[in-house]
Amino acid sequence: MNFNEENLNAALSGKTIGSPLYFYKSVESTNSSALSLAKDGAPEGTAIVADNQTHGRGRMQRVWQSPPALNLYASLIMRPNLAAALSSPVTIMAGVAVAEVLSAYCPTQVQLKWPNDVLVNDKKICGILTEIKAIHNKIEFIIMGIGININMQKNDLSPSIEKIATSLRLEVGKSINRVELTVKLFEKIAYFYQLFLKERIEPIRELWLSYSQLLGRCVEVTFGGEVYQGEVTAMDDAGALIIKSESGVQRRVIAGDVKIIKDIKCC
Ligand code: BTN
Repeated sequence: MNFNEENLNAALSGKTIGSPLYFYKSVESTNSSALSLAKDGAPEGTAIVADNQTHGRGRMQRVWQSPPALNLYASLIMRPNLAAALSSPVTIMAGVAVAEVLSAYCPTQVQLKWPNDVLVNDKKICGILTEIKAIHNKIEFIIMGIGININMQKNDLSPSIEKIATSLRLEVGKSINRVELTVKLFEKIAYFYQLFLKERIEPIRELWLSYSQLLGRCVEVTFGGEVYQGEVTAMDDAGALIIKSESGVQRRVIAGDVKIIKDIKCC
């Protein structure tokens, strides 16, 4: 099935996520398109999907490699009636939804890395970039941008990422239908989003922690020029990681990079 507007529209029509759909053969960044559509009042559930991005954006001003005809680049507009402080759990929820979908293709090999990288066999397969607009501490909208490496082969990965990135095709050894995967993903996000609105973070946190294997691990956090280490003791209701240092000081991690320190005993 070709990855095009017609097939995606037919598969997504009437669904809570993915309708309306804006499909682009090529776009600068689906997140940038979503931001301007959301500012113009696009409803919750609007999806922006592209076959190619010319300026795909990653976290922390990084570039997201977005070659044509291979992957999924999607951004969703959500309008939860929540305080801005609760926007992070929405990102956590998106990571869990992606992990659940990818697990159907590669059982037992999917892992989440805080805040929201999805890895398969220790290599990054998906990144999530959430952007939020809030007014007076209330969320006006959240843009949930998801990039999944689906059908890239070894020579599609540029030298800068070939050792740290992978694709679904490289992991399962066959080409994957992108329309089917997109529909499964949007359905899963719709399910977990409803669960989150009803029960808040609790059921999602448990799944996230089981995919992340971070609890009890010693990690190094890098943020804003600061580097510190500690043991992960919990994730709080706002989706922040709680880290306890060797001297017993607790810190909340709300941004930055977190990596497990394999060979160092710090806690
Ligand atoms: C990261 O891991 O740094 C996040 C990457 C997010 C990439 C996706 S692709 C679809 C959407 N549009 C963008 O420009 N970025 C996100």
